Amino acid sequence: EVWNPNGKYRVVSTKSMPGTRWINLLIQQDCRLEICTEKKTILSVDDILALIGDRCDGVIGQLTEDWGETLFSALSKAGGKAFSNMAVGYNNVDVEAANKYGVAVGNTPGVLTETTAELAASLSLAAARRIVEADEFMRAGKYEGWLPHLFVGNLLKGQTVGVIGAGRIGSAYARMMVITYGQFLKANGEQPVTWKRASSMEEVLQEADVISLHPILDKTTYHLVNKERLALMKKEAILVNCSRGPVVDEVALVEHLRENPMFRVGLDVFEDEPYMKPGLADMKNAVVVPHIASASKWTREGMATLAALNVLGKIKGYPIWSNPNS
Ligand code: DGY
Repeated sequence: EVWNPNGKYRVVSTKSMPGTRWINLLIQQDCRLEICTEKKTILSVDDILALIGDRCDGVIGQLTEDWGETLFSALSKAGGKAFSNMAVGYNNVDVEAANKYGVAVGNTPGVLTETTAELAASLSLAAARRIVEADEFMRAGKYEGWLPHLFVGNLLKGQTVGVIGAGRIGSAYARMMVITYGQFLKANGEQPVTWKRASSMEEVLQEADVISLHPILDKTTYHLVNKERLALMKKEAILVNCSRGPVVDEVALVEHLRENPMFRVGLDVFEDEPYMKPGLADMKNAVVVPHIASASKWTREGMATLAALNVLGKIKGYPIWSNPNS
């Protein structure tokens, strides 16, 4: 799909993105915008090389793409100045390679903070109250009437919430949990919620009833939650991951879920997306959703707009909106 065919700057978007604001921004600033309409979900390096072609000023890409040496050298050769990842996470981007080839990298923080935190809170509640299991039970026509033991889960009120990676999203999640449950506790004259900075990750794992993971993925956070650390958690704890799949050793997690039926997880991300490790899909104590933490209309349109502003900024010499180094 081509917009403004006579535009001076050639910008490629590897996917169609929500809204029209990002398209308008680019075409009003003299860009010829080419949106890839290829049906396959994940584009290979070769697919993207073909999109870059001989001349390309900037690319808006996706977190499913492998932006390394090969693509940055091709983009630079084609005259490209900017690559913008439509995501806050940029573990799919080799920033060093981009720097080497003089290509600026952008990402899209901010607009997805609350949306992602809301999904982490939703997964916490869904896991605690076994909502997906109960939904499947209803749809399967198994409900025969109220029973004292039917889908008994955990109450989040008064529980200890642990956040690992208290950056923008982790802090927003913590605020959400404290506002929801903190005000309730105070209104009833009970103990107010207290904040505590833990001295170690082990302390959070041992003390918290609900733990939400929000670190970035890099060498230091790969398999941050492994077999040993899972063993430190309470038997009835809830673990939520809306960061990146490889932060958790998913094979160890499946084993832990199997051995501890009262332990629950809410997962938005997986180690080998789009796949789940064998056994995970059979676990009743897991709620799994397909990487939708930022999927609200407002956020996705915002991400698309920021991604366009990043590319435009570099092409036109304005400050780039946001880059992973800033
Ligand atoms: C991100 O932005 O990094 C999310 O994973 C996708 O919304």
